[in-house]
Amino acid sequence: APKVRVGPSVLAGDLSMLAKETRRVLRAGADFVHLDVFDGNWVKGAFTFGPMVVKALRAHEPSAYLDVHLCVTQPAQYLEELAKAGASRVLLHFEALGSVHVAKAAAQLAHQLGLEVGLALAPQTSVSREVLEAAEGFDVVLCMTVPPGFGGQAFMPEVLPKLRELRETFPGKSLEVDGGVTVRTAALAAAAGANEAVAGSAVFGAKDLRKSIRELRNSLQQ
Ligand code: DX5
Ligand code: ZN
Repeated sequence: APKVRVGPSVLAGDLSMLAKETRRVLRAGADFVHLDVFDGNWVKGAFTFGPMVVKALRAHEPSAYLDVHLCVTQPAQYLEELAKAGASRVLLHFEALGSVHVAKAAAQLAHQLGLEVGLALAPQTSVSREVLEAAEGFDVVLCMTVPPGFGGQAFMPEVLPKLRELRETFPGKSLEVDGGVTVRTAALAAAAGANEAVAGSAVFGAKDLRKSIRELRNSLQQ
């Protein structure tokens, strides 16, 4: 079975101190760090940072696993720059890629550039034949469990059947959830087939970061 991993989303931390927040969660036992790239366009009103900032962060953390979630228009155009910037894995939205053909080409390019690559699905995107076909070329499928754009939203249990479907089709593939993940909802996601979880508020809002990450990992382990 694919490995259980917890990745705090620094969106819930102090973005003016990205390196400090990253170091804080890594020291507290995070398996990876999740970076949300918003371009102010794909999700109206949500604007964060891009490849240059990923590169600046990489200089501080030579060995961290950086999971870069692209909530942007035409995500494939940033692959080369993100590879140079030192991203470990890049998550591209099926909705933004637009077609199976574009998705497959993007996954192939990412691998050529030495990146791991994930196919992200917004909550309303169902597991169509096209999605399944595209997913084959990706290392991970990310099921968003909130509408993309903001932290602190409530987990959508209606996404759980999608995870079950994906787990049945791809027994060995990594399945990641992002949005509204808590100790309770991580267990629901894991029971449906998820093995990786991103958590923003649940980690940065906790008094004891180490404890929150450990508890999230325990919820995923079943
Ligand atoms: C939402 C982002 C998430 C967000 C999760 O668009 O993709 O990564 O930071 O935050 P929480 O865990 O607070 O829902
Ligand atoms: Zn995200």
